[in-house]
Amino acid sequence: MSKKVISVKFNNGLSCPILGLGTWKSKPGEVYDAVSSAIDMGYRHIDCAYLYGNEREVGQAIQDKIRSGVVKREDLFITSKLWNTYHRPDLVEPAIRVSLSSLGLQYLDLYLIHWPMAYKEGDDPFPSDANGKVIYSDVDYTDTWKAMENLVKQGLSRSIGVSNFNSKQIDRVLQIAKIKPVTNQVECHPYLGQRKLLEFCQERGIILTAYSPLGSPDRPWAKAGDPTLLDDPKVKLVAEKLKKTPAQILIRYAIDRGIIVIPKSVNKTRIADNFNVWDFKLSKEDIDVISSLDCNGRLIPQAEGREHKDHPFVKEEF
Ligand code: A2P
Repeated sequence: MSKKVISVKFNNGLSCPILGLGTWKSKPGEVYDAVSSAIDMGYRHIDCAYLYGNEREVGQAIQDKIRSGVVKREDLFITSKLWNTYHRPDLVEPAIRVSLSSLGLQYLDLYLIHWPMAYKEGDDPFPSDANGKVIYSDVDYTDTWKAMENLVKQGLSRSIGVSNFNSKQIDRVLQIAKIKPVTNQVECHPYLGQRKLLEFCQERGIILTAYSPLGSPDRPWAKAGDPTLLDDPKVKLVAEKLKKTPAQILIRYAIDRGIIVIPKSVNKTRIADNFNVWDFKLSKEDIDVISSLDCNGRLIPQAEGREHKDHPFVKEEF
């Protein structure tokens, strides 16, 4: 297996491996082995978040690989994300310090605002009222952004970015930013191709990162009968033609569009499969076939924040 990982260059001059291991939905008890195996196989980019509840175990795997000399800290690219209940500017630095401590790191390579919506401050990640509705906070994400910039100045994160921001929200951040976001991490796969957002971000020097690139078949709210991207006949057709797996086609589809991609797996064989994508490229014809699947098929709607003033997925925005 060729281990030549392509990297992309951010607008601040720093590099990021275009393929990383996702850890959303990776359970404690599984994620240590997943991260260890991934690093052994050549993965150098691990995507984490406070909300995933597994940063301590991810950190143990990273530290063990550094201690045993398999990899150096500076060769790894580690991302974490600021959760919605810590948007208030004075809470941002303590929040990154919690993730750094869990991960056992002195600095992150990338810290993202996980969602534009602020929730009521506190340690309950989904603070809710008597009717079970999430309680919001009115902190504006542009104020959160200014606190994120301080993290770079303090050396706590090399780069900063956003996640799940729509185009209007990105422009609001750019209007006040002294440090530009390097990426916008969003759901992106053939059913939700994000063509407009990709172009919008590219025009502003922001690289898109695709989460759920395989269609997240393990999303907790998946229902029987929901379409499964990995089983889609058009994806399978291209996979059979190129003698690759559907997952490899979906990963390469992101890479060939210049998008950073972070497939999640806790299975050693599939972690290897997902990394074995360096010896082929999709032709324009293959890309067109896969792009024809685009149907605004959003799988991660973040429904509990739907009525928030800053919910990003409103009809008139992209
Ligand atoms: P597992 O962790 O058991 O390997 P996404 O990255 O879009 O969220 O998708 C993650 C889901 O896709 C998980 O259920 C994961 O299962 C599964 N998965 C990851 N890699 C592959 C693969 N190569 N083939 C099939 N399913 C995969």
